[in-house]
Amino acid sequence: MVFVSFTLVKTLIQKTAEARRLRPYAPEGLMVLRGPGERYGEGSRWTLADGHGFAEVELMRGSESLRPGTLYVENLEVKREDRGMGHGEALFLRVQGFARNVGALWMQIDSERDAVGFWLRVGFEETGRTFYGGKVSMIKRVPGR
Ligand SMILES: CC(C)(COP(=O)(O)OP(=O)(O)OC[C@H]1O[C@@H](n2cnc3c(N)ncnc32)[C@H](O)[C@@H]1OP(=O)(O)O)[C@@H](O)C(=O)NCCC(=O)NCCS
Repeated sequence: MVFVSFTLVKTLIQKTAEARRLRPYAPEGLMVLRGPGERYGEGSRWTLADGHGFAEVELMRGSESLRPGTLYVENLEVKREDRGMGHGEALFLRVQGFARNVGALWMQIDSERDAVGFWLRVGFEETGRTFYGGKVSMIKRVPGR
């Protein structure tokens, strides 16, 4: 019983320390709503946001990515009322800066077919793979890496 309580307290202390290490604002001008703190690596996931939208990203494990050192953009969404004003591109550029700062060489996305034009616009290329539901696999080299 004493051992269990000690473990619980230890876990709580670790979690608090981890929460402190979580910077609410990343240097790219993004709010980190969820993330692994400073001990990140393959498999780490973040939810990032600016005032107009959010993105969910993951550092892919080597076996899952098309190329080593890839940040997978699972989702990037701008508030409905803010679309068509450049906020999507601005958010993407911040996410791209984030990718560079966590050491990623590539970014990968499986885009909805009707958003492919957006990803082409911000520099992605189609890889030629499509998935069930028509999602289109796309990739971009992180500039400056
Ligand atoms: C896709 C999305 C993020 C774009 O955000 P946005 O703020 O409307 O985009 P921007 O205003 O920054 O557009 C930047 C450029 O991309 C173009 N673009 C935006 N959405 C596009 C689309 N669906 N297809 C083709 N081009 C698109 C714009 O015309 C603009 O080009 P321009 O500068 O030459 O005029 C937004 O529509 C969205 O949240 N959609 C729902 C979620 C989604 O589909 N996310 C992507 C898949 S994960």
